[in-house]
Amino acid sequence: MPRVIAITSGKGGIGKSNFVLNVGISLAMMDSSVQLLDADLGLSNLDVLLGIRPHRTLEDVVLGRAALNEIIIRTEYKIDLIPGSSGTQAMADLSGEKIGRLIKDVQGASKDADFLLVDTASGVSAAVISFLMAVPEVIVGVSPEPTSLTDAYALIKILNKNGYHGRISMFSSMVKNSAAGHALYQKISSASQRFLATQVEFLGSVYFDEKLSRSVSAQVPAIVRFPTSDIARCYRVIALTLLGQAHVQMDYEKFWSRLITMIMKKARPKPSREESLPVAAGPDSMEKTLLDMLDEQRRTRMLLERLLMKVDQVLPR
Ligand SMILES: Nc1ncnc2c1ncn2[C@@H]1O[C@H](COP(=O)(O)OP(=O)(O)OP(=O)(O)O)[C@@H](O)[C@H]1O
Ligand SMILES: [Mg+2]
Repeated sequence: MPRVIAITSGKGGIGKSNFVLNVGISLAMMDSSVQLLDADLGLSNLDVLLGIRPHRTLEDVVLGRAALNEIIIRTEYKIDLIPGSSGTQAMADLSGEKIGRLIKDVQGASKDADFLLVDTASGVSAAVISFLMAVPEVIVGVSPEPTSLTDAYALIKILNKNGYHGRISMFSSMVKNSAAGHALYQKISSASQRFLATQVEFLGSVYFDEKLSRSVSAQVPAIVRFPTSDIARCYRVIALTLLGQAHVQMDYEKFWSRLITMIMKKARPKPSREESLPVAAGPDSMEKTLLDMLDEQRRTRMLLERLLMKVDQVLPR
């Protein structure tokens, strides 16, 4: 069974999809068998970054129009892409029996891979959180913008409140050097440890590099287009760090059933209020969780500000 890892972030546009693609290719270059799953159901990004146009997606599998192995695209970079779906009305009408059969079918297709990297939408929608809860490893991407930091912390807090027991790692994105990346990690790690008693592992930093935008425009992954660049080295170091981590086992059936539920929820035109609640265990309502998060964010920000002032005071002038 593969290591199934979901890559997510509180704030959007921080470099998740490029991370999935370039780290995936780096792992493949190191002889791992890698599948990428595009679960960003709003905008399927990975196909665009790869310059390919899938004719069939996961939705065709869910609707019984194709088998999973028929939709998998073998790319020229030794990685396989499972294209996502934007979700349509028809998906909402599937019977439980059909869904059960589907889950069994789709499970087989990636069982021989070493890594299944799942690119998710950013944010804390109930569908994304519910999906993350079924994955044994979550990687949170954080950029230096303050909102990215607080949103990432809020995401970790929601996972924690819902009783998430898997591994949480983070990478720093768009940072100017490794010290800046490490400083971001320290902030997330100490807040998570202190307020949530949750450990967050560090995978490394992806530097800000305008070569990334150039590779996106060229629809060629940065690691291939600029193999000797700093950013390519960042992705390779992260791939090596991932290879050094132990494999976290998972309930594979639960993973696929959550994924399909997420696609179907997306397909419903207007989810009721209850459906859009997170998978909170116990009496926590969405509102309470959000209020808690805001509180915690404020407290964390105050704490960080105080810490920064202390650092300023002790630094030599
Ligand atoms: N390390 C970086 N250096 C420079 N620019 C970057 C970097 N990472 C991301 N970008 C810029 O941000 C854009 C968005 O990147 P990407 O699509 O990987 O982000 P995302 O987090 O997946 O976004 P979304 O939340 O919309 O899915 C890129 O096209 C690029 O212009
Ligand atoms: Mg993306």
